[in-house]
Amino acid sequence: MDDDTASNTRGVAPDPQQLDALWMPFTANRQFKAAPRLLVGAKDMHYRSHDGRLILDGIAGLWCVNAGHGREEITRAMEQQLREMDYAPPFQMGHPVQFEAARLLAAVAPDDLTKVFLVNSGSEAVDTALKIALAYHRARGDGTRTLLVGRERGYHGVGFGGISVGGIPANRKVFHGNLLPNVAHLPHTHDLAHQAFSRGQPAWGAHLADALEHLVQQHDASNIAAVIVEPLAGSTGVLVPPRGYLERLRSICTRHGILLIFDEVITGFGRLGTPFAAQYFNVLPDIITSAKAVNNAAAPMGAVFVREGIHETVTGGAPEGSIELFHGYTYSGHPLCSAATVAAQQLYARDGLLTRVRREGLDAYWENALHDLRDAPHVKDIRNLGLIGAVELLSRPGQPARRAYDVFVKCFELGVLVRQTGDTIALSPPLILERGHVDQIVDTLRQALRSVP
Ligand SMILES: Cc1ncc(COP(=O)(O)O)c(C=O)c1O
Repeated sequence: MDDDTASNTRGVAPDPQQLDALWMPFTANRQFKAAPRLLVGAKDMHYRSHDGRLILDGIAGLWCVNAGHGREEITRAMEQQLREMDYAPPFQMGHPVQFEAARLLAAVAPDDLTKVFLVNSGSEAVDTALKIALAYHRARGDGTRTLLVGRERGYHGVGFGGISVGGIPANRKVFHGNLLPNVAHLPHTHDLAHQAFSRGQPAWGAHLADALEHLVQQHDASNIAAVIVEPLAGSTGVLVPPRGYLERLRSICTRHGILLIFDEVITGFGRLGTPFAAQYFNVLPDIITSAKAVNNAAAPMGAVFVREGIHETVTGGAPEGSIELFHGYTYSGHPLCSAATVAAQQLYARDGLLTRVRREGLDAYWENALHDLRDAPHVKDIRNLGLIGAVELLSRPGQPARRAYDVFVKCFELGVLVRQTGDTIALSPPLILERGHVDQIVDTLRQALRSVP
């Protein structure tokens, strides 16, 4: 971070009136505006706060800045693209950078998930994947397959498709009357009676995938289009899949002709030490949704990866010369976002970032450091995989999520950004971190846990 950024902003307290107009997303607006936390600069592993403090980023922005902040290579590529061409229409027209972005993305995709549909967010990626699944079955003459299966506690963004297959009650409650009608849910995989303090994947819980067999019996496979799960559920508080669970889900889907969609918006691009979680678990889905780290979060973009056969079926099913999939966004493959994606993917490849976490043993160091917190006050469970971690806290009686919120604020005051979700503190730092950063995150968390009631 250059000195200018710091000196221009150091010590400037935000004026409450200037915060008034913005309705902030997923935020307690009144509480926030009474005591704002503003970030004004970022470089590598750190943010700088409005009061000039260096904040270690323990969450890679929001699970997305995998190569660390302010990477020159990405900035330069975006500047150059804007000078060359700001925008090009994506329907019945093309521009070279979006094709190059898709080509580089396909190169890190597992197996034959090499057809790439570009979107602008994780939520759009999810809607797109669900629509592709429906279009695929219809193109095969299997148009009765319309039921979409999600999972309790799943997070798939905030579109109506995503909240319908999603399973986080607070995200669904207010919109309940207008969710998609044809959706069923698998049970979630979290059970502390069997899994507390597991290191990596819990040994218990593979059998929970068999709930899909029950849904097949209830609805008949001929009516089921797809199952969508996060291979590792992030937003709900980091639920690591039990050993054998994803394999079982895959085999049930295969047996019944149901498409398996992995929502890898969080796990995509190196988070577990492989490009995708699909490669980490060695389970091949039919469609992968991604966003966030696709371009190191430098510009809004998402990418849906589709198996060759699905793509051929949908495109081949339409008459020559007609549009094959009536779907797309004004900003699909936007030049600025595509340029950022090309630069980010080149950077990931050059520095080996998509495999660094495993290659350099950071995952093992991370696991040991996190589990050292087991005896800290209020700790109910600790979970980890790759460079993801969670510390679940005992709730204060009658005040769910308050203790974790206080820990989050305390950590911020102590110079580390963590994420609070319910009574869980979630962690997913940039993949460029060093062991000293791990120590700082864990020490700060311990200090915060000791300081809150
Ligand atoms: C698994 C998953 N899917 C979808 C989304 C939605 O992404 P976006 O906020 O970019 O719409 C998220 C966001 O955190 C996510 O974690």
